[in-house]
Amino acid sequence: MYTFLVNGKVVTAHKKQPLLRFLRDELHLTSVKDGCSQGACGACTVIIDGETYKSCVPTTDMLEGRNIITVEGLTEWESRVFTYAYGEAGAVQCGFCIPGMVMCTKALLDKNPDPTDEEIKYALRNNYCRCTGYVKIIAAVRIAAQILRSGRIPEKGADDWKLGSRVHRLDVEEKVLGYGKYPDDYELEGMCYGSALRSKYPRARVLSIDTSKARALPGVVGVFTAEDIPGQNKIGHIKHDQYTMIPVWNMKFFLLFTILKRPRHRMHQRCLMRKRPMYRHVNMSAGEMLRKQSGVRSM
Ligand code: FES
Ligand code: FES
Repeated sequence: MYTFLVNGKVVTAHKKQPLLRFLRDELHLTSVKDGCSQGACGACTVIIDGETYKSCVPTTDMLEGRNIITVEGLTEWESRVFTYAYGEAGAVQCGFCIPGMVMCTKALLDKNPDPTDEEIKYALRNNYCRCTGYVKIIAAVRIAAQILRSGRIPEKGADDWKLGSRVHRLDVEEKVLGYGKYPDDYELEGMCYGSALRSKYPRARVLSIDTSKARALPGVVGVFTAEDIPGQNKIGHIKHDQYTMIPVWNMKFFLLFTILKRPRHRMHQRCLMRKRPMYRHVNMSAGEMLRKQSGVRSM
C-alpha cells in the first residue's frame, strides 16, 4: 500500500501501477489524458511536489508521501484564469493536450510569474500538440501570466460570431479543465471496447467487405460497417463531407470498419483502448485476414 496526496486528499494505492492508471482508473480524474502511455506526449502531465511529471512514467510505489496536483486540483481562481487565457488565445482545438499544457503553465507561473517566450517554450518542451502549432498555446501562457500578475480577468464582451471575429470556443472550459469526455473517459458497467480497422491503402475504392473471420475471433461481439450506421454516414467540421466508415463502392480515405470486443479482464480492456501489443495483435490479425478477403484494391 502506498499513501500520498492527490489534490489535497490523502489517497492509498493498493498496488504498484503507473500513476496515470491510478489517477484515471481508481480516482476517475479525466483531465489526466492517456496519449501514449510511454512518456512521449505529455498529455498525462501532473505536478508532483511543484515539478511537472508525465504521470505514465512514475509508479505508485515511488510516490509515498508525495503531493500530486492535477487540473482537478486547481483553485477556482486558477481554473478561471487558465480557461480565459486559453480561450482568449484560441489555443484549444481538439483539446486533448490542453490539461497537460495547463499543468506546465501552472508549474512555470508558480515559480516565474513573468516568463520570457524562451522560458515558456522550455516549460512546454515535453508536451505535444497535434492541432495548434504551439504559437497560440505560448500566447495563452503569456495571457495567464499577465492576469495572474494583475489579479484581474478582463471583462469578456458578448461573442460576435461574424466572419473574422475572435470568439472563445463554446467548449473551451471543459477542454481546459479536463471534464469534457473523450472515448477513453467513459466508464460503463460491462461495456465493450471498439477498435477501428484502417486500410493500408491511402486511396482506393472498396470493392467488397468480408467480415466473417473478424466476427469469428474470440471475444468479438460485433463488427460494424457503414451499412450499420443509421441515417447520415458523413461528418465534418464545416461541411459534412467525410465518411465515418467507408461504404462499398466508395473511395476509401481512412476507416473501413469497427470491431467491438468484450475484453476478458481489465488489463485487456486497456490494451484494446490504447493500442498496446495485444490490441495490435487483435487488430492486425483481423486486418490481415480482411485485407486478403475484403477486395480492397489500390487504384
Ligand atoms: Fe504519458 Fe503520453 S500518456 S507521456
Ligand atoms: Fe489538439 Fe493540442 S489541441 S492536440
